[in-house]
Amino acid sequence: MKAIICTGYGTPDVLKFQDIKKPIAKNNQILIKIHATTATSGDCVVRGAKKYGPIMKIMFGLKRPRQPILGAELSGVIEAVGENVTKFKVGDSVFALTGMKFGGYAEYICLSENSILSLIPKNANFEEAASLAFGGTTALHFLRKAAIAPNQKILIYGASGSVGTAAVQLAAYFGADVTGICSTQNIALVRSLGAATTIDYTTDDFKTLNETYDIVFDAVGKLNKTTAKQLTRQNGQFISVAQGLVKELMEDMFLLKELFEKEKFKATIDRTYPLANAAQAHKYVEIGHKKGNVVLNVVKE
Ligand SMILES: NC(=O)c1ccc[n+]([C@@H]2O[C@H](COP(=O)([O-])OP(=O)(O)OC[C@H]3O[C@@H](n4cnc5c(N)ncnc54)[C@H](OP(=O)(O)O)[C@@H]3O)[C@@H](O)[C@H]2O)c1
Repeated sequence: MKAIICTGYGTPDVLKFQDIKKPIAKNNQILIKIHATTATSGDCVVRGAKKYGPIMKIMFGLKRPRQPILGAELSGVIEAVGENVTKFKVGDSVFALTGMKFGGYAEYICLSENSILSLIPKNANFEEAASLAFGGTTALHFLRKAAIAPNQKILIYGASGSVGTAAVQLAAYFGADVTGICSTQNIALVRSLGAATTIDYTTDDFKTLNETYDIVFDAVGKLNKTTAKQLTRQNGQFISVAQGLVKELMEDMFLLKELFEKEKFKATIDRTYPLANAAQAHKYVEIGHKKGNVVLNVVKE
């Protein structure tokens, strides 16, 4: 099968489109023919581990990633099932969050039937289904950590990325009054996703806002902590994507599926590339200004 192999740490050019052996499902596994995956900020961090120092390499592999196929989320169709599999059948369309196990940048993947995996929303195409899990589960993790509740005022900093676009929609769904901070070009997008108020960080000095919030969520990891504290109400919460790793939960996949089907949550897709052009996609993603998600099409729909 074809796959993008991360041949070392460095610039996107370390990503090579190669032929490798197609995997075979074990007894408890399903074989998925991948239709779409995404190029995430997380993929770029692992590929670029060189600049983050030795701890990253100890985590992911000394000379190159131990798992050379990146891709933390995917969608596709089940082509084969192991003999002990009971939850899925051949022909099911599924979406999965592989997280730090990666593996999405390939034509096929084998996953345990107990992986973070669900049938795709009935109304989603494969590009949309591939774009729900990374940002969606991250946003859910942190909103849950802050115990978000109806009528709370939440400020979402970096409201236009993968995590940010998911957080705006989910916070609005949970009944919060959402203010999103983004740049001029993303104001309309962030409003369309459910932010009642938007602040343009390129023109407005949000540091001197005459307003405080029950929750301040830094969805991009770039908000100054002192500023965040000034914006947080007494007994309020400041949460950030930089505060620890996300716990991946199956129930979050089911919730995202349900909300997509009820049209309460949508996939924000900025650009799409064929899988073979993953290096080009990484060049765009690592600039740090994508709107929502960047899809890699493995099968052209
Ligand atoms: N803790 C975890 O387990 C976990 C899980 C997932 C992600 N993360 C982290 O979460 C962060 C966000 O991930 P992501 O995938 O959502 O990133 P992303 O999609 O690449 O974020 C891009 C967005 O960030 C906005 N942005 C860039 N600089 C900004 C600034 N100075 N102020 C405000 N907005 C800014 C951009 O908007 P403009 O173009 O308008 O600037 C763009 O829309 C990353 O650092 C990632 O590593 C952590």
